[in-house]
Amino acid sequence: MVKTVSIVKNFGLTASRKLHVVVLTGAGISIDSGVPIFRGRGSMGEIPEARRLASKAGPPWNTRETWEFYEWRRRLVSQCKPNAAHYTMVEMERYFENFHLITQNVDGLHIRAGSKGVLELHGNMWRGRCTRCGASVDLPETPLRSIPPYCECGNPLRPSVVQFGEPIDPNVLSKAFAASRRAELFFLIGTSGVVSPAAQMPLMALQNGAKVIEINPDPTVLTRYMTLSLRGKAAEVVPRFWSELHACKTPHAKQASLWQSRE
Ligand code: APR
Repeated sequence: MVKTVSIVKNFGLTASRKLHVVVLTGAGISIDSGVPIFRGRGSMGEIPEARRLASKAGPPWNTRETWEFYEWRRRLVSQCKPNAAHYTMVEMERYFENFHLITQNVDGLHIRAGSKGVLELHGNMWRGRCTRCGASVDLPETPLRSIPPYCECGNPLRPSVVQFGEPIDPNVLSKAFAASRRAELFFLIGTSGVVSPAAQMPLMALQNGAKVIEINPDPTVLTRYMTLSLRGKAAEVVPRFWSELHACKTPHAKQASLWQSRE
């Protein structure tokens, strides 16, 4: 069923600068930039070799084989640009005093768009980590000068990416959980909600009484918990939604914000 909703009237949303706002993004936000995804029909994850190379059970992470896989992914992403949804996150970060952007993406597009304090749950393919001294090394160029790349201490780097089956950096995770527990307004953009612990974060926000808004062309396993689900592509819906919300600085403002929402 398609119905028209007035976000301002029906959901009492405002854009007070003091609101605690959290955004969790997934692969869907980068689909509009042309970044290939890992799950679903026709995705990279359907290639058994890709699954093996991206998992804990695969080859050692500092080997030529692993790096050649990441170099392939890095080359693909280097041809993609951040889209309007990524740039909207930069505007929101500048606007809200308490804003946290959490992403499951490793493509680095939020940082390329200009977002500053990004909590990258699964790491970033544009960095390496020394397997011996633990140093984090920026690797912005593709092709790399050597495969595997080396740390200044003389040991090979691994991609600074959380492989399937590996734990998330506890510092990043605790910041993301803390932000979610304090959230008053939580956006879930382009994620299927099937991978934990990210999937728990909107539920934590709900427990805090937050309004939780999903932006996704399709329903997800989390849809039934949402305050509001906006159906559409992130690059179209996110900037449009933000410009309307931004215009509503007080509750019950008289802006007519009409949306097509599918139930
Ligand atoms: N705009 C917004 N969302 C979209 C778009 C779009 N243009 N196109 C598709 N989507 C939605 C899909 O409907 C789906 O719900 O994006 C979601 C992508 O889901 P997943 O591929 O499962 O991505 P994600 O939730 O980020 O997965 C989490 O699992 O694949 C691994 O490590 C990878 O970090 C990733 C993690």
